[in-house]
Amino acid sequence: MTLDLAEYARVMGGREVRRILLDAETIRRRVREMGVQITAAYPDGDLLVLGLLKGSFIFLGDLVRQISRPIQIDFLVAASYGNATVSSGEVRLLYDPATRLDGKHILLVEDIIDSGRTLNRMIEVLGQRNPLSLQLCALLHKHIAPDLKLEPKFLGFDAPREFLVGYGLDHAENFRHLPFIASLAE
Ligand code: IMP
Ligand code: MG
Repeated sequence: MTLDLAEYARVMGGREVRRILLDAETIRRRVREMGVQITAAYPDGDLLVLGLLKGSFIFLGDLVRQISRPIQIDFLVAASYGNATVSSGEVRLLYDPATRLDGKHILLVEDIIDSGRTLNRMIEVLGQRNPLSLQLCALLHKHIAPDLKLEPKFLGFDAPREFLVGYGLDHAENFRHLPFIASLAE
């Protein structure tokens, strides 16, 4: 079953998505390329893929199935947004990965880089645990983070300075299940 944009808006209870930015097929192709890149970038060593919840859950699920080398998977939960479309500036770590990080390649997977505050905080925390290496993989990057400590080694797409939803991205916990990425009407 495929729903078009108008049908999705109806399913969403009348909430409007303005336009589809990246359709499911475009995302699928890019994620496959990223999986190939990641596989090639880590010829050996333990690789722990750390997903930043909740936004990265769909991206991570698709991405890891395109990585053809042994990996471990764990998650981090950080909260930087309330139910608003603007960053509150506060980043809290709500769940800490149980897996050991020392001596492993860590690949931190994020849905979208906006102000960069979430990632900067996570990079600080993870860096203290003696990983063999620490790299970022982001699906989307708005390129507005003033002082990002680490640019993503693996990036899906440049993103416009708009509020985006779908493919894991939410607005007040809505829209995460959309198979495409769309911009949200004001
Ligand atoms: P940052 O700390 O400002 O970089 O924000 C990062 C987090 O805010 C992301 O992990 C997302 O969960 C959320 N976020 C940032 N921009 C958007 C957006 O356009 N749509 C939905 N969530 C966003
Ligand atoms: Mg979010």
